[in-house]
Amino acid sequence: MTRTPVNVTVTGAAGQIGYALLFRIASGHLLGADVPVKLRLLEIPQGVKAAEGTAMELDDCAFPLLKGIDIFDDPNAGFAGANIGLLVGARPRTAGMERGDLLSANGGIFGPQGKAINDNAADDIRVLVVGNPANTNALIAQNHAPDVPADRFTAMTRLDHNRAVAQLAKKLGVGVDDVKRLTIWGNHSATQYPDIFHAEVAGKNAAEAIADEKWLSDDFIPTVAKRGAAIIDARGASSAASAANAAIDHVYTWVNGTAEGDWTSAGVVSDGSYGVPAGLMSSFPVTAKNGTFEIVQGLDINEYSRARIDASVQELVEERDAVKGLGLI
Ligand code: NAD
Ligand code: LMR
Repeated sequence: MTRTPVNVTVTGAAGQIGYALLFRIASGHLLGADVPVKLRLLEIPQGVKAAEGTAMELDDCAFPLLKGIDIFDDPNAGFAGANIGLLVGARPRTAGMERGDLLSANGGIFGPQGKAINDNAADDIRVLVVGNPANTNALIAQNHAPDVPADRFTAMTRLDHNRAVAQLAKKLGVGVDDVKRLTIWGNHSATQYPDIFHAEVAGKNAAEAIADEKWLSDDFIPTVAKRGAAIIDARGASSAASAANAAIDHVYTWVNGTAEGDWTSAGVVSDGSYGVPAGLMSSFPVTAKNGTFEIVQGLDINEYSRARIDASVQELVEERDAVKGLGLI
């Protein structure tokens, strides 16, 4: 039986994450090795020529699963019929830009893109926002798409999750696939809280296996939370291949499910769980089943974790209030 190709719209397609992402989507890593895809690349007019160059290279790979590539500079056209939307393109902070200017510039991107998704995407659209500030950009897009179920909009904290898994595995001298049930809570920013109290490493509780609060507080948490800045410092550019890889992981898990007994982390619209105000786009422990993320319920949150979750959620509240004040939601 020939399957209908899945339409995947990628914004910021000519950027560095786009370049690391598109070839993996086309080779079957986003959805599965038997799922044909059509790529819809959305750029600003200045980015279209570079996107055309990437499309030439994609052609030159002769990927069997790639059934078409179209390039757009109009969001309504770019999201027409989209089943998956990867919102990567964003306005970076530049010298002299205040926080309000950054939120406002991104509101000018993610508001119209949310509306374009609302008006033009397929009924089963699933959106992952990568462009920073990812949680609040996702909140803005979701607020402009009233006809799309809110749980179809997500923000990427899978890179933070993968970073935390790698650091923990390294510390305990185990493989990354021995680490389960780790959680990133809150915002994709330096306030995020990577939580190992419910994590398991080779079947043992990770916090008990570590038994070193100093390492947790002074090493693990800041290393994970500030990893983005450390990469920028070392590379002179923000993470690209690892961010693209995390976007692939996020969507693959969303569509294909989490393993029994494990979970992952994603920015999803809060239903009020764990005291996170309903409606905020916050990272939680989530399972995925039948194409839906569900927040893992019933975890005991100790005082150490509570303070750190609250601090990151407070930052999200402030970002939400700022974009509300600017009339962006
Ligand atoms: P980049 O500057 O290399 O590329 C961004 C691309 O987006 C450019 O080609 C630009 O033309 C395009 N663009 C800008 N506005 C657009 C619009 N309105 N519509 C369509 N395209 C548009 O940046 P990058 O390194 O690819 O990073 C992209 C974003 O991802 C940044 O905001 C970065 O901070 C963020 N990021 C997030 C994570 C995460 O974990 N959530 C990790 C790494 C990077
Ligand atoms: C990252 O976590 O690597 C990025 O979000 C950093 C950044 O500011 O682009």
